[in-house]
Amino acid sequence: MVYLDHAATTPVRAEALADMTEEFGRLGNASSLHGSGRRARRVVEEAREAVADALGATPHEVVFTAGGTEADNLAVKGLYWARHRADPARRRVLVGAVEHHAVLDPAKWTADHQGAVYEELPVDRLGRVHPDVLRAAIERDPGGVALVSVMWANNEVGTVQPVAELAAVAREYGIPLHTDAVQAVGVEPVDFAATGAAALTVSGHKLGGPVGAGALLLARGVDPVPVLHGGGQEREVRSGTLAVPLLRGFATAVRLAVAERAGHAARLAGLRDGLEAAVRAAVPDVVVNGDPEHRLPGISHLSFPGCEGDALLMLLDARGIECSTGSACSAGVARASHVLLAMGADPDTARSSLRFSLGRGSTDGDAAALGEAIGPAVARARAARERRR
Ligand SMILES: Cc1ncc(COP(=O)(O)O)c(C=O)c1O
Repeated sequence: MVYLDHAATTPVRAEALADMTEEFGRLGNASSLHGSGRRARRVVEEAREAVADALGATPHEVVFTAGGTEADNLAVKGLYWARHRADPARRRVLVGAVEHHAVLDPAKWTADHQGAVYEELPVDRLGRVHPDVLRAAIERDPGGVALVSVMWANNEVGTVQPVAELAAVAREYGIPLHTDAVQAVGVEPVDFAATGAAALTVSGHKLGGPVGAGALLLARGVDPVPVLHGGGQEREVRSGTLAVPLLRGFATAVRLAVAERAGHAARLAGLRDGLEAAVRAAVPDVVVNGDPEHRLPGISHLSFPGCEGDALLMLLDARGIECSTGSACSAGVARASHVLLAMGADPDTARSSLRFSLGRGSTDGDAAALGEAIGPAVARARAARERRR
């Protein structure tokens, strides 16, 4: 099997698995006061320090969550509620047009159910939100903006946003900027303090940690209203018994991913270039999407004119090659990607696209296997589409 879907999820690293396995054999609720509880608490606090250290944050700024979706919801809903409560005039929620649904949908929900005003920040043809576009959007009514959310790097096309510049613009107006860095940590230099973002999302299963563990980094003085109420864990921002084994595995994976980042990213970029060359040799009219200059090293998003992406995906799957039409959450639904549409693609092109994403276990052999399979698969997908016309 050739697995080219690491952006959907990537294998748990051996080191994280070993830590979690050890921890699952132990007892203790990190909120309990007895010895077992205090031991569990120590593990959590060490994990917090490791995550903070790796990502340029202080331990106090790390709020553990059950993954990226939860962290995004807490950032968007929680910051909206907090800012709107402090100043009822602040109702505008500005989000990048190519955000993951974990940001888009809570933002739309605040508009549908909480009186917010949902506004998308347009992107250029490469998928970037320009700082001037953000400034112009804020300027329309600076006093009305509750928050801005623009992702660090896009999960479909891999475009990397100018997050520090965007955060600087938001800061000029005293507006908190949240950034979803789920796809960036471990391949991009993510430094929370240096970006000036108010909040940042990270998720375990995209970087060699477990699914179901993640964090929202919150800068000092940034206090979202909680989404979850209960035991008051995580500074009352995120109630719920802490998943000690998962958090230990998550921290190990974050630490290693960040330590190995430069070499790993360079290796991925080389593999990706080889993959694109192999595909182009077989399908000369393939189109590479995203920003050629500011692009994640491990994602190759390609349009195959005259094909249905879904049909092509199944043809490749039948040949043992696993990839995606875009984000895992919308995969399987025959809908043109909102990301490509926002970048100005027509719906036909948007539907003709596949994402190939690389990770730690990827090899040149994977690219070669795709190079061999893609030509016949595209020919069949084109013929099938012609027959249906
Ligand atoms: C950019 C981005 N944000 C958020 C998520 C959701 O993270 P999780 O799967 O940890 O809930 C994903 C996962 O696909 C993602 O790619």
